[in-house]
This record gives sequence, C-alpha cells and structure tokens, in this order.
Amino acid sequence: MSNSLFRTKNIDKILRDAATNEENAHGSGGLKRVLTLRDLTFFGIAAIIGAGSFSSLGEAVFKGGPGVVFLFIICAIACGFTAMCYAEFASRIPVAGSAYTYAYASFGELFAWIIGWALIMEYSIGNIYVAFSWSDYFTSFLHKINIHIPDYLTCSYMEAKKAFMNNSSNAELTGAWNYAPTVGSFKIIFDLPALMINLFITILVYKGVKESRNFSNVMVILKLIIVALVIGVGAYYVDPGNWLPVNDAGVASFMPNGFAGVMTAVSGVFFAYIGFDAISVMAEESKNPQRDLPRSMILSLVICTVVYILLTLVLTGVLNYRMFEGVGDPLAKIFEVKNVGWMQAFVSVAAVIAMTSVLLVFQMGQPRIWMSMSRDGLLPPAFQRIHPKYQTPSFATIITGLLVGVPILFTDKTFVLDFTSIATLFAFVLVCGGILLIPKKEKVAGKFNMPYVNSKYIFPLLIMCAVVIIKLANKDYFSALFNVTEDNASLNISTIILWIVLIILAVFSYVKSFSLIPLLGLSSCLYLLTGMTGANWAWFGSWLALGLIFYFSYGYKKSRLAQTIL
Ligand code: ALA
Repeated sequence: MSNSLFRTKNIDKILRDAATNEENAHGSGGLKRVLTLRDLTFFGIAAIIGAGSFSSLGEAVFKGGPGVVFLFIICAIACGFTAMCYAEFASRIPVAGSAYTYAYASFGELFAWIIGWALIMEYSIGNIYVAFSWSDYFTSFLHKINIHIPDYLTCSYMEAKKAFMNNSSNAELTGAWNYAPTVGSFKIIFDLPALMINLFITILVYKGVKESRNFSNVMVILKLIIVALVIGVGAYYVDPGNWLPVNDAGVASFMPNGFAGVMTAVSGVFFAYIGFDAISVMAEESKNPQRDLPRSMILSLVICTVVYILLTLVLTGVLNYRMFEGVGDPLAKIFEVKNVGWMQAFVSVAAVIAMTSVLLVFQMGQPRIWMSMSRDGLLPPAFQRIHPKYQTPSFATIITGLLVGVPILFTDKTFVLDFTSIATLFAFVLVCGGILLIPKKEKVAGKFNMPYVNSKYIFPLLIMCAVVIIKLANKDYFSALFNVTEDNASLNISTIILWIVLIILAVFSYVKSFSLIPLLGLSSCLYLLTGMTGANWAWFGSWLALGLIFYFSYGYKKSRLAQTIL
C-alpha cells in the first residue's frame, strides 16, 4: 500500500489490468476491437477539422491577418512533436485513457488525476463550443431554406444578455433578449439546436462504437470533399494583394499586427488542432493498437495541417483580413461577399457535417477516459459500467451528455474556447514531459519507436542560438520583458517563466541526455501557453483547485494503488 501522492502505476501492471478487464467485462470481451488504421485516421480527422476551421478561424484571421498561417505552422510543429509522444506512449501502453493513463505511468497518481481532470475541458467543455458553432451553421442553413426558429431558441442566454447590456448592433441577439418569453422575471433563452445535437450524439455513442464508426467515416469523407471544394473554388477568387494588407501605420505586411497580433489568435488556432490525441483513447477498440495508433495520429495531423494552411491562405487571399471581425462563419463569408450562393449552401452543410463528427469523437473519448479513472479507483465504479447489449461505457456516456448539455444553457462560446485550449495545452505539456521520465526501451519490431536523438548538446545550443537571434532582431527584447504593465502582464510574466524553464531544461538535457523530440514538444507547447491571458489562467487554476478537492475527498482514499500491494 502506498500513501504517496506520486504513487506510479507500473506499465506491465497497466497492460495486465487491461487484459483482465477485457476478459471480465460481463464475460463478453469488454469493448469490441473493431477499429482499423483507416478508422482511426478518420477518427482523428473527424475530431480535428471542425469548429476551429469553420468558426474560430474567422476571429483568428482578424487578429493576426494572413500571418496567422505562421501560427498554424507553429501549432502543427508543437502538435507533431506531441503526437510523437502520444504515439510512443500509446505503443507502450495501448489501453484506453489517453494522456491520463500515460501520466499515471510517468508522473504518478496526483498528476494523472490532474490530467484526467484537465481533459474534461478538452473533451466535454470543448464540445460545448462545437455544439454552439454547429447550431450557428445549422440555423443559418435553415434560414436559407426558409425555416425560421425564434432567435431566443438559437443563442445562449449569456450571449443575448451581453448583447443587450452592450447595446450590440447584432439584431438577432438583442431581439432574442427583447422578445423572449418569461417565467416570472426569468427570460427563456437557450440554444435549442445545440441541445438537440448533443442529445442525438449522446444516443449514438450510447448505442455503440460500430454504429458510431460507420456514421463517422461517412461524415469524414463528405467533410474532406467539401473542404477541398471550398479551397478549390475559393482559390479562384484569391487576389494576392490581400496577402499584404496595409496596417494602421500604413505599412503593407503579411502580419499587419505584427507577431504579437498573430500570437493573440493562439486559442482559436490551437483549438483547430485539438483532436489527434482523441485517437489514443480508442486503444481498447483498435485491432492493432501498437501499430495503428501512432500511424493514425501522425497521418491525420499531417492531412489536417495541409488543409488548414490552404484554408487560411484562401480566406486571407479572397478578402482583406479586417473583414473577418466578429465573423463566426468565415468560410461562408467569403462566398457571401463574392456572391457565390451555391457555395454558401455547400459550406453550411459541410460545417454541420464537420462539426457533427467532432462532437461524436469527443463524446466517445470522454467516457473512455473516465472508465480508466474508475478502474483505478479514482472515480466511482459506475463510470466503468459497460452496457450488456451495446458494450459501451453506458453511465459515463450519459454523464458526458449531461456535462456538455447542461452548460449549454448558461455559458457562451468565447469562454469555452479559451478554457479548452489552455487545458489541452497543459495536458500536452505533461504528456511530452512524461516521455522524458519513463525508462528508455529497446527498439521493438512492428511497434512505433520514437527516434532517439540525444539532446545533450543540441538543446542547449538551440536555446543559445534562440537567445542570440532574438537579441540581434530586437536588442531590447529581454529588458522589455521586465517592464510589466497591466496590458502585458500575462504575456510578459509567462514569457519570463518560459525562459526560466527553458534554461532549466537545457541544463537537464545536458546532464541527463534527454531525448530531443519530447523536449522540443514540451518547449513548443510551453511557448504556446504564453499566448494565454491572465483570465484564462485564473479560470483554469480554479478548475484545477476544484479537481484537487474531488481527488482528496474521493480518489486519494479509494485509489487501487492505495489499497493493493503491487
Ligand atoms: N479541432 C476541433 C475543432 O476544430 C476541436 O472543432
């Protein structure tokens, strides 16, 4: 028995437990192993391309201009390194649970719990944003075919209230507030399509992975065809002059608001990449997890990166970046301005399809993470209950549906977008860090083997080069960091912390000869975290504190590691 907060689960034990669970689950072999490499890659794409490209891309482009394409590349690099780490973990620990299980084997129980808790943000809270965006496109599609749902049933209470308080010019939102029916003094305003899609997805996931898989594969193929069409047709309207817009200072630039402007778009851009890691939670349903999990993660990431770069170039090439202010449907917007009615309809359908598949994948992922946590004793046993007929984690699936559905009634889009991105980046940091901590292994044929490049000299050299290049480009960069004002406090403080951590990592890499890939993954994710605002950190900190209260009142005592001698 161990009382340590850092009690670590042994990798062999994790694999033995998974095998036992598979045999024991109602004598039916547990979760069904039905997913192939193609299915998993499709799951990845299904999870990745969604509200990020169809919705939050508009605001991102407005903040950063065409130069936001650099942020897509930076995020792709960070996600690529992280995917390699996920792949390495997934090939060593091919069981459900994703980053949570990986953290249990490397950092120990407390960190595993923290990651599991943070992943609720990625999987459930992220789906709230997607459901809202889904509803936006769905209602605009209904408008086009002359079906009108009252405004007070197509937006969130918070959005309508904010619009009214700020005297917004958005007639739909203020109309929703002004004309909503009331019960006493309470206005009945909620996003009905967002709730309905959540209900539909919950039922689909509850009924089983095979049905969901078929549904998901069809949607992904359709999604890719229509996205290709958007890029193809959009390319025809590109005016290269838009790639060098004139900024407020009268200078034509690919980054009209400078790199700082590009970095303010980090939440929206990073959100667009979230999803490749969802593949790793499907380990127990994968036919050949050792081989297929890593391949599918990297494959789906590469495909989506190409799509995003092309989409961003098309968007910023067709219209001046300033035209995307407050635009929630940027892809439809370009065809609206260029008067291509049929493409507008296509885009609305594509967005609805794309976002339905995102919802599906995340709603499948969340219960599987909880199932792992419950098996470890960190959550009540009900979370590992497998439905006798459908063989899905039934109770956990219903709770996920509620966790997405109930907040739809009282949150809004911006809040959940920031929250999801910060929590997911945090989880990525721990996954990359975790790889540095687990013991090295011999190469095994047929499994994913992350190439080992000794960072001993390379990483410290890279940090030194970065310092010299930054100094040459901007000699005041480092001194300016210490000039903290109310406006730049969050960016400057997090950047100072980043540099301190990088220097510590450089020392450790020299002493311990760390593997370079996870080190670069860790550094790039930490860098992206510097783009988060102080308010994001405050909310995220409160969420983690709540998680710790749960852990100490339940998981710490009920943990299987606390009760068994390993
Ligand atoms: N990457 C997913 C999306 O953009 C979460 O919807």
